[in-house]
Amino acid sequence: MHISKLAVIVPAFLLSIVNAHPLAPYRTFESLNAVPQGWEEISNKNVDPSTPIKLRIHLAQQNVPEFERTLIDVSTPGHVSYGNHLNQDQIDAILRPHQDTTTIVKSWLESQGFSNDLTFKNDWIVVSTTIGKAESLLQAKYKAFQNKQTGDKVVRTLSYSIPRDLHSSVALIQPTTLFGAVSAMKNTISRVEDPSILKPSGLRLKGGIDAACQSSITPDCLSDVYKYKGFKPASLGASSNKLGVNGFLEQYAQNDDLSKFLKKYIPDAKNATFTCQPVNNGLCTQHPSEDFTEANLDIQYTVSATIPHPNIYFSTAGRPPVQDLDPNTNEPYLEWLEHVLALSDAELPQTITTSYGDNEHTVPQSYAVKVCNMLAQLGLRGVSVLFSSGDSGPGDNCVNKAGKKAFVPTFPATCPFVTSVGGTVGVEPEKAVSFSSGGFSNYFARPDYQNAAVSNYLSTASDAKTFKDYFNATGRAFPDISAQGSRFHVYVGGFDQLVSGTSASSPAFAAVISLLNGDRIAKGKKPLGFLNPWLYGVATEKKGLMDITQGTSRGCSGTITGAGWKATTGWDPVTGLGTPDFSVLQNL
Ligand SMILES: *[C@@H]1O[C@H](CO)[C@@H](O)[C@H](O)[C@H]1NC(C)=O
Ligand SMILES: *[C@@H]1O[C@H](CO)[C@@H](O)[C@H](O)[C@H]1NC(C)=O
Repeated sequence: MHISKLAVIVPAFLLSIVNAHPLAPYRTFESLNAVPQGWEEISNKNVDPSTPIKLRIHLAQQNVPEFERTLIDVSTPGHVSYGNHLNQDQIDAILRPHQDTTTIVKSWLESQGFSNDLTFKNDWIVVSTTIGKAESLLQAKYKAFQNKQTGDKVVRTLSYSIPRDLHSSVALIQPTTLFGAVSAMKNTISRVEDPSILKPSGLRLKGGIDAACQSSITPDCLSDVYKYKGFKPASLGASSNKLGVNGFLEQYAQNDDLSKFLKKYIPDAKNATFTCQPVNNGLCTQHPSEDFTEANLDIQYTVSATIPHPNIYFSTAGRPPVQDLDPNTNEPYLEWLEHVLALSDAELPQTITTSYGDNEHTVPQSYAVKVCNMLAQLGLRGVSVLFSSGDSGPGDNCVNKAGKKAFVPTFPATCPFVTSVGGTVGVEPEKAVSFSSGGFSNYFARPDYQNAAVSNYLSTASDAKTFKDYFNATGRAFPDISAQGSRFHVYVGGFDQLVSGTSASSPAFAAVISLLNGDRIAKGKKPLGFLNPWLYGVATEKKGLMDITQGTSRGCSGTITGAGWKATTGWDPVTGLGTPDFSVLQNL
């Protein structure tokens, strides 16, 4: 499959060739060699060729390497540009597709009879057409598929082609090969209906931490373990330092559950709240008796740690319909990213946490590259973007796209321009939790900022040798850091329950980052922005991260016996660089 990362200057002679031969030979642009795991074709259902479809053609951007370089420079402490984040107009001006790129794609579409059906956006073109016409434009065959678990239905094709001469001008075309790309990292959410057995014990561990934090987590445990207890964030007014929480898949954060949670765990703050921002017709509904575990977990742990800073819950719609076969099922990450990138600097949160993801190989690479590029744009705007690493250790069923045994990385956690958060459990000592996902990307190469830490791991850790056949040692390694992920008290449907998952770790770490951002802003400094060059650099050197060296992840059951990564000294693929020490990080 082809990925066009770099814009190509299309020579004039090529344009004339395309004009002269509008049907230059087609080449496969992207294909899947099987229906993605978890989906099956609905064999008795033909897709009506007259069904309307809106194809989005994303054009290749210019200057991507320069853009990525700029992001690293503004995010590296000590660099002359550190903290000089750009606004969206400046970013768009860098990345805007070359005029020739737009021209060559437009003339192809016009030559195929689509002159009147085109809408031009920043770096993409929407073609409003029918399934039948899309099939001939893309030499594709759209079919109906169903998700075996959720019953969601989609209309997709397993491959599509475009003229060879256009391959370097097009970044991706959807909806085509993208099935699901989003699931909540709540695979291991475990509910304990009666948490009364876990009341704070009053006993203190050596470090002064409540002994009850060994078996279940409250906001107090986190502020003790990560050393921000007693820190009073400056009140900066409604717009200055905001924390964003991403919600997909009809997960709605509940006010009622939040106030019950605060009443019990942060009695001083019972009227603290969040605002909900609908994206792509998402809803902000309140159903106090329903179980919105993921949304409530995320918002309860971000709000409780960051009072009085505003928290925004982004509620993005875009899940495939269960009933009808509408090919235009929205794709939530792109919809959400377009929404946030369009926010003004004053509206944009400085820290955003997301507890959703999927197996990297089930996401088409062109799509992963596009989403990662947009996440990087957030970093260049000055936003710290955090994602849960996933809840399946080295992988769940551990079979890759080619059907071979392999560890399975999680996307977007593998995007080199986000901070990926693994999970820990226990406080004295704090150890890796067995479900914490980590490993190595097959789509993204290892970025320079983690070269030293990861090469050290690869040359010294015994696991790197034991499992060498199952992972790609040249890939971007994840997670970057970690935080508690096991047995969090969360109010869900009106009751205190216990929830586990790296779903909990990302909001826990994001809250610490948001406190640091608020502190910096109160002192007249720039927000931290993209964190990784700082985390792998000065934050590690100055011991702002507590290295986790015990515990092992587990996964690949039934496929690779004994699969799992051990936490080690330094970076490892289960806890990354370690967990945050706010008291040290605040001084850096
Ligand atoms: C909570 O309510 C009190 C009194 O009504 C008010 O002074 C305070 O600002 C409120 N706090 C928040 C976080 O809304
Ligand atoms: C391994 O990762 C690199 C990126 O570092 C990628 O180019 C390559 O295709 C990957 N190999 C496999 C087998 O996926």
